[in-house]
Amino acid sequence: MQKQFSSPSAPIGVFDSGVGGISVLKHIRALMPQESLIYAADSKHAPYGNQTHEFIQARSFHLAEFLLSQGVKALVVACNTATAAAISSLRERYPDLLIIGMEPALKPAVAATKTGVVGVLATSGTLKSAQFAALLEHYAQGVEVVTQACIGLVECVEKGELTSLSTTALLKQYLQSLLSAKADTIVLGCTHYPFVRALIEDIVGGDVVLIDTGDAVAKHLKNRLQDNQLMCALDELGSVSFWSNNEADDTEKVMSALWGSPVSVARLI
Ligand code: DGL
Repeated sequence: MQKQFSSPSAPIGVFDSGVGGISVLKHIRALMPQESLIYAADSKHAPYGNQTHEFIQARSFHLAEFLLSQGVKALVVACNTATAAAISSLRERYPDLLIIGMEPALKPAVAATKTGVVGVLATSGTLKSAQFAALLEHYAQGVEVVTQACIGLVECVEKGELTSLSTTALLKQYLQSLLSAKADTIVLGCTHYPFVRALIEDIVGGDVVLIDTGDAVAKHLKNRLQDNQLMCALDELGSVSFWSNNEADDTEKVMSALWGSPVSVARLI
């Protein structure tokens, strides 16, 4: 039940270790264009994938505090790794705030596979988490699940290198084990990975189904906003603002390219 943070016209806060969560932000924008959105990219501390839970929790609290200071009515943790490491602590600290997390979409992948082999690409933090073990336990009975941690891929996306030779080489290496195992369905278990979807499709071919969680997260957020009478009732396009602590000169260029139109990026402390 929403109490403390309840104004339907307030913005929705979305954060990730970096630019990856923009893939989720796009789904939220497409589904609820009237909602105002504030995106916080913790790029200075990316990747989270091999950080400790304590570190990720501390960063998640920092980002949540920032977004709350901007008056958000709900928080979307647009990061599988931060969800696994910090969602329980966030919910404990902010019991009255609507908080939406995300996890690799194993359930639809298991439903879609015909070969009985599902591949999961994610960070090592996500794959090693208790939440992922629970997902396997619940949804993967009778199906072989081949997991692959994609070390270095988040850094490629952070730099905006979506089609470079090094990104291609990395993906070819990581997809090999999934293809050898005859996976016909691959879960994109990190929000950075949808940005290299085209490259993955080129490598695995058109018969392999790729599953991204962004759309399901947006739909879940919409349902939860409705349940809490928090949907924005204004009949106009909401604002979208971007914040980042990335010190690279091309931060705006990269974030604009990922968002799909020019954005200005404010400095996140
Ligand atoms: N985009 C994130 C995820 O969904 C985090 C990647 C990282 O920083 O390692 O897991």
